[in-house]
Amino acid sequence: MSKKILIPILVLFVLTVASIAGYTVYQYPFRIGYAPEQPINFSHKIHAGDNNIPCQFCHLYARRSIVAGIPSVQTCYNCHKLVTGTKNPEEVKKVLGYWDRKQPIPWIKVFDLPDFVHFSHKRHVAKGKTCQECHGPIETMDRVERITFFNMGWCVNCHRKNGADDDCWVCHK
Ligand code: HEC
Ligand code: HEC
Ligand code: HEC
Ligand code: HEC
Ligand code: HEC
Repeated sequence: MSKKILIPILVLFVLTVASIAGYTVYQYPFRIGYAPEQPINFSHKIHAGDNNIPCQFCHLYARRSIVAGIPSVQTCYNCHKLVTGTKNPEEVKKVLGYWDRKQPIPWIKVFDLPDFVHFSHKRHVAKGKTCQECHGPIETMDRVERITFFNMGWCVNCHRKNGADDDCWVCHK
């Protein structure tokens, strides 16, 4: 092959690889700043901030289970059959649409741990750890953003500071 063809092919190849890599990093859920667009433009600032709805009103398993839980469409509907919304009524209509079709809202998970790590909300909440210590000021966010990386050092440091168990098997069963 002549150089005239080879160079454009090479450039195209490099550009393709670079954009795939860039996109992968952008989608990578374990990075700080990860804030995926959700199926409904749900704002914690409006709900937990401006309207002071307690976190555990919606995430009601946090104090009794390993997961915090994401509220069902029923929870949204209980309020939004009446609250039609003044800033973003179109988004509320979408919520009612899921309710009518009896479909769950396919929320995208923001905070995630690798499956080989054992974590429990209950134990932390029972010890008085606030949601914000681990998740940041969620009540100020219009879209949830991952502000902590959840690496091992972060978990272990807090365990040492609080006199909690830091044996390997506590988190790796
Ligand atoms: C305890 C009552 C309550 C619950 C539960 C609730 N909301 Fe809301 N929501 C409100 C209030 C109050 C507003 C502000 C309405 C306004 O300012 O006009 C609001 C606003 C909104 C808005 C913006 C609409 C606008 O025009 O401001 C959307 C979208 C929304 N909620 C979606 C949801 C979803 C999705 C759920 C379930 C995960 C949910 N809400 C659960 C009370 C609630
Ligand atoms: C009205 C219901 C409601 C209230 C009140 C609420 N949340 Fe949420 N929360 C949701 C919904 C719905 C989602 C999923 C959509 C999203 O990520 O925005 C969510 C997602 C989250 C997530 C990301 C979960 C993940 O990994 O995908 C965190 C963390 C969280 N909430 C923490 C809080 C904290 C802390 C508070 C109190 C300051 C709070 N929430 C109050 C409904 C609520
Ligand atoms: C000690 C740190 C810590 C505290 C305190 C904490 N969380 Fe979490 N949260 C996590 C971790 C770690 C995950 C990811 C768990 C996983 O992927 O297995 C998570 C995941 C979540 C999720 C995603 C869905 C789920 O249940 O896994 C929600 C919602 C959530 N937290 C809400 C809350 C709320 C609300 C509070 C306060 C009542 C809270 N968290 C307190 C560390 C914490
Ligand atoms: C804000 C401080 C803090 C952070 C951050 C934290 N922990 Fe903890 N964790 C504690 C405390 C305090 C306890 C002790 C609770 C008790 O004694 O009941 C604990 C207990 C636990 C337990 C239960 C221990 C047992 O004996 O069964 C597990 C599992 C755990 N943490 C995992 C994690 C993981 C995984 C992370 C990181 C993703 C993490 N923790 C981050 C403070 C923290
Ligand atoms: C308080 C919780 C906690 C304790 C205690 C803990 N780990 Fe971890 N570990 C984690 C978390 C969270 C991750 C995943 C995040 C990461 O890779 O940093 C992890 C990841 C790992 C990995 C995979 C590393 C990688 O780069 O993928 C290994 C191996 C590991 N831990 C070994 C250990 C050993 C050995 C001990 C005891 C000396 C230990 N862990 C104690 C929370 C813990």
